[in-house]
Amino acid sequence: MSDQKPTGTRHYRPETRLVHGGTLRSQYGETSEALFLTQGYVYETAEQCAARFANTDPGFIYSRFANPTVSMFEQRMVELEGAEAARATATGMAAVTTAVLAPLRAGDHVVAAKAMFGSCRFVVEDLLPRYGITSTLVDGLDLDQWQKAMRPNTKTLFLESPTNPTLEVLDIAEIAKIAHAGGARLIVDNVFATPIWQSPLALGADVVVYSATKHIDGQGRCLGGVILSSDAFIQEHIHNFLRQTGPSMSPFNAWVLLKGLETLGVRVRQQTENAAKIADALAKHPKISKLIYPGRSDHPQAAIVKKQMRAGSTMVAFEVKGERAAAFRTLNGLKVARISNNLGDSKSLVTHPTTTTHQRLSEPARAELGITEGMIRYSAGLEHADDLIEDLHAALEKA
Ligand SMILES: Cc1ncc(COP(=O)(O)O)c(C=O)c1O
Repeated sequence: MSDQKPTGTRHYRPETRLVHGGTLRSQYGETSEALFLTQGYVYETAEQCAARFANTDPGFIYSRFANPTVSMFEQRMVELEGAEAARATATGMAAVTTAVLAPLRAGDHVVAAKAMFGSCRFVVEDLLPRYGITSTLVDGLDLDQWQKAMRPNTKTLFLESPTNPTLEVLDIAEIAKIAHAGGARLIVDNVFATPIWQSPLALGADVVVYSATKHIDGQGRCLGGVILSSDAFIQEHIHNFLRQTGPSMSPFNAWVLLKGLETLGVRVRQQTENAAKIADALAKHPKISKLIYPGRSDHPQAAIVKKQMRAGSTMVAFEVKGERAAAFRTLNGLKVARISNNLGDSKSLVTHPTTTTHQRLSEPARAELGITEGMIRYSAGLEHADDLIEDLHAALEKA
């Protein structure tokens, strides 16, 4: 590496950070970041090798611990998010599981919002209790419930906002205050908002996690995740856990994600514009009983959206009259948007949460969250908005 220190870009605007942040150049001076597809590293001498392991000589040891391409991705995310440090993981779920589990011990307690991605809820509800960590699930919109759930041993509060798939918007700053007053940390899964529209650390959260699989790649190619926080949190709780347990990001995926970050702002802006147009076009459709879009003034938490998000979202949720059969007829009738359980992609993707992402939940648990049989989650892509709207109108004809 000729540039051992990554380029600092914090004084630039986010668009510039997305393109240049974290770049390390080799002696060849390449324009595009190099892909260091290597498992390990060699040393000049045994003394140098010993010094690396003793942490007195900076440098790479083994790609399970760190890799130059992965480090560039981590550093670009750090600069974008305004964090002190980051660690990349193999998937978004590896990031969530590590951020939640690694700092905890048996006897600790976690409070989390009920409305979250099915696998995140599994981690809190099913996995943690197996290791003696108790959890309480609350209605994330109700600050009283967060407050009442706090116990002397509560160490972590965990939420996602907007929520998957109901697009509720939780008050991050107020929930952070409750966490800190009780000596706990707040972890925010920022997947639905994206780093373009919401900065949880600036709102008072302590840790941010992403599934980089979603908007950060945004082109359906690879899985990835990232945890961002203070240097102290990453060093004390995350670095060693990842190093010893191994859910590391592959250098190839880091390279793809670095390229994804370069276009993230442009894609998210265009996808959000498309989502807003879709929401407006469907809001009064006779076959739709409910439409939820965080960018509209009729969103139930419009005031919180205004306070903490820079724009709406790339996601729209709506309920088709006539329950599951009508929702399925709508999905099957779409020709441009494709049926998928993924989101944040340049291709518009539609999901029936009841039978996919949230099928693990019981019927009453889904009902409590407002996930109905008629609900469809729509992830707006980069196609022309008029084609997407015409596609939806044609499919709804058949519903
Ligand atoms: C909100 C949210 N968090 C986390 C994840 C998990 O990410 P991954 O699929 O990359 O493991 C997903 C989706 O899968 C998600 O929608």
